[in-house]
Amino acid sequence: MLAVKEIKFSAEALKKVDEIVARYPEGRQKSALLPLLHLAQAEFGWCSTEVMDYVASLLNINPIEVYEVASFYTMYHLKPSGKYVLEVCRTGPCCLVGAEKILSILERKLGVKEGEVTPDGLFSFKGVECLAACGYGPVLQIGPEYTFYENLTEESVDELLTQLKNKN
Ligand code: FES
Repeated sequence: MLAVKEIKFSAEALKKVDEIVARYPEGRQKSALLPLLHLAQAEFGWCSTEVMDYVASLLNINPIEVYEVASFYTMYHLKPSGKYVLEVCRTGPCCLVGAEKILSILERKLGVKEGEVTPDGLFSFKGVECLAACGYGPVLQIGPEYTFYENLTEESVDELLTQLKNKN
């Protein structure tokens, strides 16, 4: 029989949960959902159904309320993701200056399709909505710090991937 890994925050994360929930008025604990999902993603790597159910139980809300939010915002990963998730803006202004080309370059250089993880576990990438840096496209961001990389070219993407690989 397969062992099912229990989903439970570390003691340190649970302390943060209490701090976050305490920011909101009594009975409004649902307002803590976004930061709790960030915390869960940092702790468990991605927001699986089990993780989202766990977050729902912590906030005493229905799991569907968590699924709705987590599936709306692209910063929450609903599938296993690489250590670095390259989120490329694919909204109009960035597309006009080559966002789709940057996505193709990433696919070619990483050898995986959008949403897949490289065999070394380091990278995945996805297209996302406007990152509010429209004058500097094509643009990508990398969480969890959400560092921006602007005016992307094939050369700068190469450089970025090399830098990130060298950190490991
Ligand atoms: Fe790409 Fe706004 S359209 S950042």
